[in-house]
Amino acid sequence: MGRWRPLWLLEVVAISLMVLGTATAAGDGIPTTLDGPFEPVTVPLSDEAFRGHAVDLPDSDPRVQRRVKGWEPEQISVSLSATEDSVWISWIAGEFQIGECIKPPNPTTAASIVRYGNSKNSLTYEATGYSLVYGQLYPFEGLQNYTSGIVHHVRLTGLKPETQYYYQCGDPSIPAMSDIHAFKTMPTPGPQKYPRRIAIIGDLGLTYNTTSTVDHMTSNQPDLIILVGDVCYANMYLTNGTGSDCYSCTFSKTPIHETYQPRWDYWGRYMEPVISEIPIMVIEGNHEIEQQVENKTFVSYNSRFAFPAEESRSFSTMYYSFNAGGIHFIMLGAYIYYNKSGEFCDKHFFFI
Ligand SMILES: *[C@@H]1O[C@H](CO)[C@@H](O)[C@H](O)[C@H]1NC(C)=O
Ligand SMILES: *[C@@H]1O[C@H](CO)[C@@H](O)[C@H](O)[C@H]1NC(C)=O
Ligand SMILES: *[C@@H]1O[C@H](CO)[C@@H](O)[C@H](O)[C@H]1NC(C)=O
Ligand SMILES: *[C@@H]1O[C@H](CO)[C@@H](O)[C@H](O)[C@H]1NC(C)=O
Repeated sequence: MGRWRPLWLLEVVAISLMVLGTATAAGDGIPTTLDGPFEPVTVPLSDEAFRGHAVDLPDSDPRVQRRVKGWEPEQISVSLSATEDSVWISWIAGEFQIGECIKPPNPTTAASIVRYGNSKNSLTYEATGYSLVYGQLYPFEGLQNYTSGIVHHVRLTGLKPETQYYYQCGDPSIPAMSDIHAFKTMPTPGPQKYPRRIAIIGDLGLTYNTTSTVDHMTSNQPDLIILVGDVCYANMYLTNGTGSDCYSCTFSKTPIHETYQPRWDYWGRYMEPVISEIPIMVIEGNHEIEQQVENKTFVSYNSRFAFPAEESRSFSTMYYSFNAGGIHFIMLGAYIYYNKSGEFCDKHFFFI
């Protein structure tokens, strides 16, 4: 979970290449999950080129800049619900604010609507969801506060398995609708019913190395992406936007471990072309703690992603489960108690 993430990250990619099989479109003999099961293979990454300095994409990079106007959706993503007949679509409308005297937008200013269907020309179904705005507030002299744009989450239900759906999200009454995107639902659980390729990544970040990893992952056309914690590393920055490889060495005198929340928006923008079409399932890591006013933690993580928590009878976004064909994934975050004592712990224990 350290800052030397490229090594771990590339290791994970290499391992998933071997175990899950991520053949290229051209077909280079690497098998898919459907050809398994396989003996696990670990590929050590001894190449020194994979170690050392990871440089963050700067805010001037076109891939992290806002490409929409007004209340038009951005940072669009798809995630799975607990079963193959349902997914979540998430996006953000409106620009974030950071500094003094910020004014959070009213979450109802833009409606949460998804229009979808089996062909681009007939988005005949409509689903409505909910919206929220979150803040990252620091009651300390000299620190800047942040408010998100309007975060939307809409659950689509009644979908057919292994089927391509097209969708547009936003608020048609403004009008502020997104371009049309497409995703494919998972197969129904059963023998030989698996997503063909699953990409498993940790410590992704938003560095130039992230971009090579994501390019590599995308070229292998995964059906599902699992992100096992440490998303954008906004907590390696001060609220004034100054970052460091080693927060505690560089900013040893800060009153609280600050974050620079626009990094989350940059990450959402950078990832949109991939995760608006390929479902992503995220579980929290230490970089998502992001302590703020009143000791609140994990606020950005909880707000920005949709989780099949309720659908999988979890009581928290920090652990949940879902099916992807014949695979039942149990996502257990490391930041929740798992013993038998205490009310909340009881619930967690019961879930397991
Ligand atoms: C990671 O990015 C740095 C530049 O930021 C580059 O020098 C290095 O070669 C990259 N490593 C890999 C494995 O892509
Ligand atoms: C940020 O929000 C906190 C909590 O509401 C408040 O105490 C603080 O003064 C605000 N800071 C700025 C710079 O607006
Ligand atoms: C942010 O604050 C740090 C610590 O006070 C300072 O070293 C840095 O220059 C500031 N950066 C900007 C962009 O103002
Ligand atoms: C926040 O947490 C710290 C220790 O982590 C504790 O000392 C402090 O009392 C807490 N503050 C509030 C407002 O809960």
